[in-house]
Amino acid sequence: APIQAPDLASCNTPEIPDTATGLSCCLPYRPGTAIVDFVPPPASAPLRVRPAAHLVDKKCLAKYERAVALMKKLPDKDPRSFAQQWRVHCAFCDAAYDQVGFPDLDIQVHNSWLFFPWHRFYLYFHERILGKLIGDDTFALPFWNWDAPDGMAFPAIYNNRSSPLYDEKRNPAHLPPFTLDLDYNGTDSPIPRDQQIKQNLTIMYRQMISSAKRTELFLGQPYRQGDQPDPGAGSVENVPHNPVHLWTGDTRQPNGEDMGIFYSAARDPVFYAHHGNVDRMWHIWRGLRPGNTDFTDPDWLDAAFLFYDEDARLVRVRVRDCLDPATLRYAYQDVGLPWLNAKP
Ligand code: C2O
Repeated sequence: APIQAPDLASCNTPEIPDTATGLSCCLPYRPGTAIVDFVPPPASAPLRVRPAAHLVDKKCLAKYERAVALMKKLPDKDPRSFAQQWRVHCAFCDAAYDQVGFPDLDIQVHNSWLFFPWHRFYLYFHERILGKLIGDDTFALPFWNWDAPDGMAFPAIYNNRSSPLYDEKRNPAHLPPFTLDLDYNGTDSPIPRDQQIKQNLTIMYRQMISSAKRTELFLGQPYRQGDQPDPGAGSVENVPHNPVHLWTGDTRQPNGEDMGIFYSAARDPVFYAHHGNVDRMWHIWRGLRPGNTDFTDPDWLDAAFLFYDEDARLVRVRVRDCLDPATLRYAYQDVGLPWLNAKP
């Protein structure tokens, strides 16, 4: 059977490091709150075209900053507030909810076939909330284009101290223009920029093509109701998704906060740009493979999650509803795939 949407009435203290105790990640919830089933936006809704973060123009940046500033000003108890938005990630990474009917088994959205769909919905609602706050139904989140040379550094728009996109807790040695290492393991390698870029492109080829020939190799291992969490991540979740988190997090913090550890990762606004590109990789992987390459297993297709939407309604979504970005009325700016011919 598929993993079911959690029972929000029973939320546990998250399992996070001692240095961060006192944190609750529970979603705001009053028993009896109506849950509505997800309906995709009408096909006539405007398409939100997510831009590469390094190509965002002034006007678009100003909108994005205004939206995040407004989100940060919402009262903490509003499920659309930034304070709640980042906690959602903590809740589904750090054991806040048990699987329905299995009090000893957590819901964990990483290291399994739930990784891509859960994060897709997470960004989908986050983006719509931001758009609603500025009254713009074309608003689209930028993506960190780390698979292309021009995106292989921390995106500069997040590195302005007076911007709501700024976060103190980042590795000070990795601010732009320092070159990103897609396979970062905790130590900077002293190789020249052009060599690092070449290496990164080879990694992208490997993770997207050679190591991702079967669906579970890319999307991750099956994880059903009653299963232990963490059956195994797909290629891109492992690398570069994980190393980019680690590379961004602040080595002066006890656990690499914010980006370097699950519970606090989404407290850094760059999280949503990082996951934009992760999500883009799913879409690209699918496009590179003729025929339908999604799982057809109903335990995947009917796995369900809960999110609050832009009207603060509680929505039950299923994996089958998120397979095609066009149905969700968003797309990615076309920036090319420089790693496609980086076969080692
Ligand atoms: Cu939910 Cu990048 O992790």
